[in-house]
Amino acid sequence: MPYILAIDQGTTSSRAILFDTALRPVASAQEEFRQIFPQPGQVEHDPADLWASVAATARAAIEKAGVNARQIAAIGITNQRETVLLWDRRTGQPLHNAIVWQDRRTAAHCEKLRADGQEAMISERTGLLLDPYFSGTKLKYLLDHVEGARARAEKGELAFGTVDSWLIWNLTGGRSHVTDATNASRTMLYNIRDNEWDADLCRLLDIPISVLPEVKDCADQFGMTRADLFGVEIPILGVAGDQHAAAIGQACFQPGMMKSTYGTGCFALLNTGSEFVPSKNRLLSTIAYRLKGETTYALEGSIFIAGAVVQWLRDGLQIIRQASETQGLAERAEEAQGVILVPAFTGLGAPYWRPDCRGAVFGLTRNSGPAEFARAALESVGYQTRDLLEAMLADMGARGEGVLRVDGGMVASDWAMQFLSDILGQPVDRPVVTETTALGAAFLAGMQAGLTGGPEEFARSWALERRFTPEMSDAIRAEKYARWGKAINACMEF
Ligand code: G3P
Repeated sequence: MPYILAIDQGTTSSRAILFDTALRPVASAQEEFRQIFPQPGQVEHDPADLWASVAATARAAIEKAGVNARQIAAIGITNQRETVLLWDRRTGQPLHNAIVWQDRRTAAHCEKLRADGQEAMISERTGLLLDPYFSGTKLKYLLDHVEGARARAEKGELAFGTVDSWLIWNLTGGRSHVTDATNASRTMLYNIRDNEWDADLCRLLDIPISVLPEVKDCADQFGMTRADLFGVEIPILGVAGDQHAAAIGQACFQPGMMKSTYGTGCFALLNTGSEFVPSKNRLLSTIAYRLKGETTYALEGSIFIAGAVVQWLRDGLQIIRQASETQGLAERAEEAQGVILVPAFTGLGAPYWRPDCRGAVFGLTRNSGPAEFARAALESVGYQTRDLLEAMLADMGARGEGVLRVDGGMVASDWAMQFLSDILGQPVDRPVVTETTALGAAFLAGMQAGLTGGPEEFARSWALERRFTPEMSDAIRAEKYARWGKAINACMEF
């Protein structure tokens, strides 16, 4: 019986899930790793931690399943996107810690590029906006700040990669320096219309093209693992950035289909089909996936703090001991208080893009306590999702097909999902398998290995666990959303 190993390298933990050929999860393992904050606004990961946690969880999942590595027909990889690594091609040694997508250290450089009038050209080619979120300015930072890096890069001695490339490099013992089209589309160096690295953008950011990996389809041959890792060589056959893999795992294969994933942040993707749709409302255009050379595009709304707001209740405010307590606490809140929390802890993402903005709480009274904070935290996720969907509505004339498929850790809260449906005024569908990111990666690898069917067959197997439908009156919805709008404006003015 063959199996597929999905590796999901996320922002705070690495996971490995073994799937059977019916794409049912068989065993999994997870490991958190260290978050490094050298200065306020800076976030780094140790590349060795990323690799070690992936290797350990992959071995642990295989062991738990009691499977022989020879039975693993394919590996699929999905990963935190935009995070930048730079290493020596000969030794495989990283030159610096990975600079994580959340890191804001290149904000001033982005500001300068904007002042120089470069944003329109960058958006036109990459679908992105000028923000430190993306890889390009971070890679330039490394080439400029690590001693000798630029000269060595120009001699062809260095390799750049997002996390997928770094993992594949290590899995294959340095034999493959590759990425996939979705990860490339987040670098700000990749032309998503022409599907190639953009020489002008590389020139603008001073990036020698020789450091860049080869870009492949999402289901493709990415290389064979070193035989000594698992005792046998295993082909890597699927790769997609985590939000793209989640859209695939949610079977959003038709234009108009939309998903929203609630992890550290929240990322909503709307399939726009084979056309690149530029956003007029400060969303991103991105590659949803590329299969057999055919590109499918998406509009994306990215919110930086979603699940992380619950972590803040736990680790910052210390009003809960574990995330699962939030719902019970929120249910006890006095609704009439109407406390609003804007969790702009690392700035505001789409559709505002204000890296300088910070969070705030509005409407506190003497009675406001942990319950009101918990409720406001969960509600903030709903309000931010509505902001994204409003922008999608303005861009597309419709909010997708009118149904939002949700996944990620936070969707376990019925209360949060009911509020989401209430504030959106549209149905919210929670699937049976909420591990859609890993599922998407497993599907890609399984399809390339010829073990599973294509997208149509996979879409038929997508199963609904529960649909949440709006119960809030139109008047209350409008009033609440208007108050949120005022709170956001106040934060941006502060
Ligand atoms: O763009 C960043 C995103 O890919 C990170 O996702 O799930 O690791 O927070 P996650």
